[in-house]
Amino acid sequence: MTITTTMLALLSNILLLQAVTSTASNTTGSMRSISWYAGWHSTDFPLSQVSWSKYTQLTYAFATTTPDVKTLSLEDSDAALLPQFVQSAHQNNVTASLSIGGWGGSQYFSTNVGSAANRTAFVQTVTELATKYDLDGLDFDWEYPNRQGIGCNTINNNDTANFLSFLQELRQDSTGSKLILSAATSLQPWNDTSGAPSKDVSGFSKVLDFIAIMNYDVYNILSSHAGPNSPLNDTCAPTDDQTGSAVSSVKAWTDAGMPASQILLGIAAYGHSFVVPESSVFQSSSSTNITNIYPSFNKSAEHLGDRWDSPGGVDICGNFSGPSGVYSYWGLFEGGYINEDGTPKAGVGYLFDNCSQTPFAYDESNQTWVSYDNVQSFALKGDFIRDYGLGGFSMWETAGDLNDTLLDSIQSAIGTSIASSDNSTQQPNTNPSSSSASRNAAAPILLALLSIFSIRVAALAYNG
Ligand SMILES: *[C@@H]1O[C@H](CO)[C@@H](O)[C@H](O)[C@H]1NC(C)=O
Ligand SMILES: *[C@@H]1O[C@H](CO)[C@@H](O)[C@H](O)[C@H]1NC(C)=O
Ligand SMILES: *[C@@H]1O[C@H](CO)[C@@H](O)[C@H](O)[C@H]1NC(C)=O
Ligand SMILES: *[C@@H]1O[C@H](CO)[C@@H](O)[C@H](O)[C@H]1NC(C)=O
Ligand SMILES: *[C@@H]1O[C@H](CO)[C@@H](O)[C@H](O)[C@H]1NC(C)=O
Ligand SMILES: *[C@@H]1O[C@H](CO)[C@@H](O)[C@H](O)[C@H]1NC(C)=O
Ligand SMILES: *[C@@H]1O[C@H](CO)[C@@H](O)[C@H](O)[C@H]1NC(C)=O
Ligand SMILES: *[C@@H]1O[C@H](CO)[C@@H](O)[C@H](O)[C@H]1NC(C)=O
Ligand SMILES: *[C@@H]1O[C@H](CO)[C@@H](O)[C@H](O)[C@H]1NC(C)=O
Ligand SMILES: *[C@@H]1O[C@H](CO)[C@@H](O)[C@H](O)[C@H]1NC(C)=O
Ligand SMILES: *[C@@H]1O[C@H](CO)[C@@H](O)[C@H](O)[C@H]1NC(C)=O
Ligand SMILES: *[C@@H]1O[C@H](CO)[C@@H](O)[C@H](O)[C@H]1NC(C)=O
Repeated sequence: MTITTTMLALLSNILLLQAVTSTASNTTGSMRSISWYAGWHSTDFPLSQVSWSKYTQLTYAFATTTPDVKTLSLEDSDAALLPQFVQSAHQNNVTASLSIGGWGGSQYFSTNVGSAANRTAFVQTVTELATKYDLDGLDFDWEYPNRQGIGCNTINNNDTANFLSFLQELRQDSTGSKLILSAATSLQPWNDTSGAPSKDVSGFSKVLDFIAIMNYDVYNILSSHAGPNSPLNDTCAPTDDQTGSAVSSVKAWTDAGMPASQILLGIAAYGHSFVVPESSVFQSSSSTNITNIYPSFNKSAEHLGDRWDSPGGVDICGNFSGPSGVYSYWGLFEGGYINEDGTPKAGVGYLFDNCSQTPFAYDESNQTWVSYDNVQSFALKGDFIRDYGLGGFSMWETAGDLNDTLLDSIQSAIGTSIASSDNSTQQPNTNPSSSSASRNAAAPILLALLSIFSIRVAALAYNG
């Protein structure tokens, strides 16, 4: 059977239209277009540079957890800027949210939600913060419930259940009920009491407005070898490298009961670099084409990424960590890897991998191998978001882009007008039981059809 791209596109449009019109509330009427604004980069990228009209929400990063359930800290994130952030967002009719946690800020989530008394206190702590700063939303970036993150987080078998109880109590609160509540998540659903990915997260779908799957850092400086930072697909990767992707993580979360329309794809306006010897990168007959996207790298070679990277230091656990090797997207331009339009710079080794659907670059002069995202991979991710009926995207980070080239690319691929001046569709999840049941009626059908026909719409559209 031959199914053409046009036929499939028509089919998806019909199904998506059904998804929207059968919706009880209007929450899914528009795509969420979000990025995290890192307070500590505000000097380089002031609020005045934000392209507010292209976003429905901006999320300020981070308030961090502390040993005291009554206190959240804004110490590392320019606390003085937060009121201006909220004001600028509101002037632009953009939802202003605050993210709590992050890689270095999740140390005390487990104890903060570890008992009924603490959950009640923590509800008070977060709602007071929301009121104090006039926030529209709170984003929970717990890395991770019942799974160690940075190395010294408090952790408990019951973390995921306690997290849900906390969110339920927050939703019952008169302030909490009005907030847009979201979570930044791991690729797999959070670990349950047994330490395995939860099989049922439907309870979270009733209290959260959405989750954003952090589909990045999949391979980083701590990995055993290099690989794609933010793979769209990994079901086509070598078995040992099927370590997560947009395709497999969205499947994992929807299989566990999170409606596709409440899932945002976390996307990366940055890449990871590694020092990789030439012999591991190029095929013998070629001097410029990368052939290996899973090479071993030299772990003892110090390598700084862009000018935002640092030689490292002591983390919150007291462990030393060296440079991250991270290049923001603009950093790849500054570093001579890409041109302004995102095409690879002449003389730089390049490969666009058709499984991860992401680009790779190699600078022979200093053996720097980079896995990143560009205009092409963002367009493919936009197609994926639209075709799978996801709720939108959230980009790390606002200041990472280069003159909006990535943001414009994903938005035009999704093709939905993302109008922040109409924020009427960005209301909190007030009637979860009725809306979450109906709003996703069509998504599973679409998913099933896509997998039956095994059509790679994106591949057809972009790779001929
Ligand atoms: C739902 O949203 C769409 C698109 O923004 C709008 O045209 C429509 O009037 C809304 N419906 C309701 C019931 O608010
Ligand atoms: C914000 O919304 C109001 C009311 O809908 C509108 O008058 C105003 O022009 C909008 N402002 C911006 C910056 O979009
Ligand atoms: C919607 O826009 C209005 C201004 O027009 C603002 O007061 C309100 O806080 C916004 N709501 C959200 C959820 O952003
Ligand atoms: C409750 O929070 C306090 C700190 O505010 C902490 O010492 C205690 O261990 C927490 N309880 C649980 C059960 O995690
Ligand atoms: C938790 O989840 C991760 C992957 O999501 C898994 O690798 C790990 O083994 C799980 N269990 C614990 C106790 O961390
Ligand atoms: C960091 O230090 C903690 C002790 O504070 C230790 O338990 C943890 O394993 C260390 N992590 C790494 C990655 O070395
Ligand atoms: C987890 O919760 C169960 C039941 O509420 C309790 O018996 C158990 O002690 C808790 N586990 C931990 C590690 O706190
Ligand atoms: C992911 O890869 C599998 C296996 O090659 C393929 O069937 C599927 O269409 C791909 N999905 C996307 C969205 O590229
Ligand atoms: C390098 O890759 C390009 C595009 O993928 C291809 O056209 C070219 O033949 C390759 N060159 C060599 C020497 O393999
Ligand atoms: C790895 O890097 C270190 C530090 O730059 C260097 O001394 C060593 O020779 C490198 N190893 C290989 C195999 O290239
Ligand atoms: C490698 O060289 C490029 C310039 O060609 C430079 O921008 C980049 O920072 C260098 N990388 C490292 C790790 O030295
Ligand atoms: C970004 O846009 C500004 C203003 O339009 C322009 O001056 C600058 O050259 C652009 N930079 C790049 C790298 O495209």
